[in-house]
Amino acid sequence: MTPKQTLLRGRVLDFSAEPQDPEDTGAYDYIEDGALLVADGMILAKGSYGELARQAPQAEVIDHRPHILMAGFIDTHLHFPQVQVTASWGSQLLDWLNNYTFPEETRFADGAHSAEMAGHFMDLLTAHGTTTAVAYCSVHKASAEAYFDAAAARDMRMIGGKVMMDRNAPDGLLDTPVSGYDDSKALIARYHGRGRGMYAITPRFAITSTPAQLEMAGALVQEHPECYVQTHLSENHDEIAYTAELYPQARDYLDVYQSNGLLTEKMLLGHSIHLQPREIDALAETGAKPVFCPTSNLFLGSGLFDDAGLRDRGITNAIATDIGAGTSYSMLQTLNEGYKILQLQNQKLHPLRAFHWITRGNAQALGLEDKIGTLEAGTEADIVVLDARATPAMDLRMQRAETLSEELFVLQMLGDDRAIAQTYVAGKPMKPVS
Ligand code: GUN
Ligand code: ZN
Repeated sequence: MTPKQTLLRGRVLDFSAEPQDPEDTGAYDYIEDGALLVADGMILAKGSYGELARQAPQAEVIDHRPHILMAGFIDTHLHFPQVQVTASWGSQLLDWLNNYTFPEETRFADGAHSAEMAGHFMDLLTAHGTTTAVAYCSVHKASAEAYFDAAAARDMRMIGGKVMMDRNAPDGLLDTPVSGYDDSKALIARYHGRGRGMYAITPRFAITSTPAQLEMAGALVQEHPECYVQTHLSENHDEIAYTAELYPQARDYLDVYQSNGLLTEKMLLGHSIHLQPREIDALAETGAKPVFCPTSNLFLGSGLFDDAGLRDRGITNAIATDIGAGTSYSMLQTLNEGYKILQLQNQKLHPLRAFHWITRGNAQALGLEDKIGTLEAGTEADIVVLDARATPAMDLRMQRAETLSEELFVLQMLGDDRAIAQTYVAGKPMKPVS
């Protein structure tokens, strides 16, 4: 029996390269009356509606006009056990971790609590148009199991890992160099490559790992080059000063990771705001990826990410929400705040590059552009349906919008989950179908 085919009809927008300026029409396909033919979780074809309807007359047609069909959004850094600490008042990074975040994460020792929160987490992501994310779980193995099981239940391509942390946190939140290694190893064996799941080896950051633990993390990276590696780098001045105290031998913050063999092109470095010239050289040489987290950087008062400076060095920057220091699950709101952070530095984030970034750009940062981030035939059917008139304010603004770029900029600045008319994960709608 041939699998059921679905034809999604709408205004198809699909990037094939990073747009260099607002007029760079060669970087994307835009099909006004377009369609995507989907079956078995995959995109079989992209084209004009008329052509694909003739090609697949038996397909069920779902008409999303006048909305835009785009690849699902990709969030490259956030924390699943922080769903109930977003919007916690008043502190910068280290106090915020100690006062709110660490106590909260101790609750994820409980498998039932982890499972309940993992369900909410996945549902929030898809409600906001995010179909792939790279998340930190808590130190507890049970939290990572809950995370991957919830992703598998929805057939989502999700990346994650249990944090390794063995000092400078409450007792209920500490592993040891050996247990952190063993638990990570068992999770990799069970979840990496199972369905759409992928594992990220996750030493939380320099402050919460002993040198012995980072050495064990380095062994894991060597034994599992197929896995991602994620951590935090140079987010906050007090964090940087404390790291220098804890690692007096290190040349700089990044060297703490580099000297343990963690720095490869599979490494995602959350924040990377206050960097030394040597650290930037090392990022450029290794192909590791800094991750820009705009709403978080503003919320914690961490600083201004130098997107243009790093890009000029040939470095590929990813972009992310960083829930729960980030204040929105929405990659649209992330672009909004990102635009403003770049404005403060006289840098520009035009809407074509912005939408490329949260789709194909983040997929490229993950080395997954052959699977997600575009609407190419043969890729996975993770698709978002965007409504630029979702709220009264957006509708009023749209009455004066004349170009696709203007419409995208309205979505970038004013959009949130209300602008997500539907999200398809592996071809299945995740929002109620009206
Ligand atoms: N650095 C170490 N852990 C964290 C975290 O949970 N959130 C943020 N924003 N920075 C961190
Ligand atoms: Zn983080």
